[in-house]
Amino acid sequence: MQKVAFITGCSTGIGREMALQLNEKGWKVVATARKPETLTALEKAGCLALRLDVTDHSQILEAVREAVRVLGRIDLLINNAGYGLIAPTMDISPEKLEQQLQTNVSGVISLIQEIAPVMKAQGGGTIVNTGSISGIAPTPFSGAYCASKAAIHAWSDVLRMELSPFNIKVITLQPGGIVTDFGKNCVETVKSNLKPGSWYGKIEQFVYSRANTSQEKATPVDAFVTDVLRKMLRKNPPVIIRSGKRSFILPLMKKILPEKWLDQLMMKKYGLDKF
Ligand SMILES: NC(=O)c1ccc[n+]([C@@H]2O[C@H](COP(=O)([O-])OP(=O)(O)OC[C@H]3O[C@@H](n4cnc5c(N)ncnc54)[C@H](OP(=O)(O)O)[C@@H]3O)[C@@H](O)[C@H]2O)c1
Repeated sequence: MQKVAFITGCSTGIGREMALQLNEKGWKVVATARKPETLTALEKAGCLALRLDVTDHSQILEAVREAVRVLGRIDLLINNAGYGLIAPTMDISPEKLEQQLQTNVSGVISLIQEIAPVMKAQGGGTIVNTGSISGIAPTPFSGAYCASKAAIHAWSDVLRMELSPFNIKVITLQPGGIVTDFGKNCVETVKSNLKPGSWYGKIEQFVYSRANTSQEKATPVDAFVTDVLRKMLRKNPPVIIRSGKRSFILPLMKKILPEKWLDQLMMKKYGLDKF
């Protein structure tokens, strides 16, 4: 029986590469994106392409219904869609914060609430939630993003226990720096959030440098996805998968360094020692 993977955010980056590599491995992939026109190549490769903006509940219901109607089952859900809102906390509007949390947290949970029953009915499945190393070792100017990913780490821990009786595994994926459009999109959020007269105007270049941090000496996306799938598709996969640039060193620093030392290092890196 062909196994079915349902992936969010397949227009670019990690989601797209996951769809391609799982498809090559013989999985039937439901590749979803909010702009269906970005999925043409994946559709040609054999994926089922569906529209899905994870902040739109009616689209979640429709995409899950269509996937189950066409393929009859979902064995693997990869919650990948997400973006980084990079801006000083004092500059973030309530609407922009809401949008970040809806995309990176509420959308993930809503999709799980629709797909877990499908998995339960078929006897089990696996859910992969994409967190980030930033959710473990937060940095200045990324509070909204880091908090959203820390929330995903915590909620994945909870779901791992709650869904275990129903043979549904939950894995937290914590990427380090991976070469994708992620950094470019983070820069756009700085542009649209940094207020005129921002407290951090004089160190603006450091806010922009935070937006690009993920792309510094980053791991190529194909190598990252190959490594992740190797670990994820084992019979007994790890509950947390870390892979990519700085995914080892940052959690280690967080664990062994006193908080005040780490604060000083991060403040210096992001220009907060200039005040
Ligand atoms: N790259 C890194 O260094 C890195 C590090 C840690 C964690 N991550 C996480 O990895 C995941 C994938 O990011 P990436 O690196 O592949 O970046 P990316 O190339 O920017 O891809 C992000 C994907 O999420 C989609 N997306 C954003 N908002 C959405 C929404 N409301 N509904 C549906 N899809 C939405 C984007 O679609 P559109 O094309 O429509 O915008 C795109 O397909 C994210 O959760 C990110 O936080 C990435």
